[in-house]
Amino acid sequence: MANDIKMVSPSLLSANFGNLERDIEMINESNADWFHVDVMDGVFVPNISFGQPVIKYIKKLARKPLDVHLMIVDPGRCIDSFKAVGTDIITVHYEACTHLDRTLTAIKEAGMQAGVVLNPHSSVMLLEDSIQLCDLVLLMSVNPGFGGQKFIENTYNKIEQLAELKYRKNPNCLIEIDGGVTESNAHLLYEKGADVLVAGSAVFGAKNPMEAIDNIKGLSK
Ligand code: DX5
Ligand code: ZN
Repeated sequence: MANDIKMVSPSLLSANFGNLERDIEMINESNADWFHVDVMDGVFVPNISFGQPVIKYIKKLARKPLDVHLMIVDPGRCIDSFKAVGTDIITVHYEACTHLDRTLTAIKEAGMQAGVVLNPHSSVMLLEDSIQLCDLVLLMSVNPGFGGQKFIENTYNKIEQLAELKYRKNPNCLIEIDGGVTESNAHLLYEKGADVLVAGSAVFGAKNPMEAIDNIKGLSK
């Protein structure tokens, strides 16, 4: 089910918060496609990251779309405030939304792209009745909350299942993968059907982050 789309969304969670401006400019200058922005509330996940004021600052410097991954309970409460600080794409967790249909519709009505995130334990079958509303689906390939974790191998099966569902119900929906992505597994992930790979430590932990982005995308020098 491989296709031609090979995008990379570097996760700012692994950036240097003491020098965020430099890291944002590196992504601007690189072949990366989006900025992946991880919002954590300390309730849905054990960690707390940052919220709207920091995103407002990122938006001032970023020249590519902000792909905001909300790891917060009941994200439907906050759609307008994330729009107000310049969010382009919002993904919400299936596990955090009581009224997922309403939340996805609200994101789109606010003028943003909308996506659902599935935790590693959540089956792709859960999306049968909501994928029509999605511009993208994000599969977690680690348990959310922290950068630098080991990739969960069952994700490959889930990508194949999701690719089948997407071609049946919403062919334009993008498949994004988040967690444990490296230069070594990127190729197989795209081949299975992924369109967008999130990469935190594989980019910001690399000696040459711009080269790491190119290697993940499979761009030859
Ligand atoms: C984890 C976050 C990820 C994280 C990925 O909960 O959603 O976006 O930054 O980090 P790596 O690429 O290091 O696994
Ligand atoms: Zn993320």
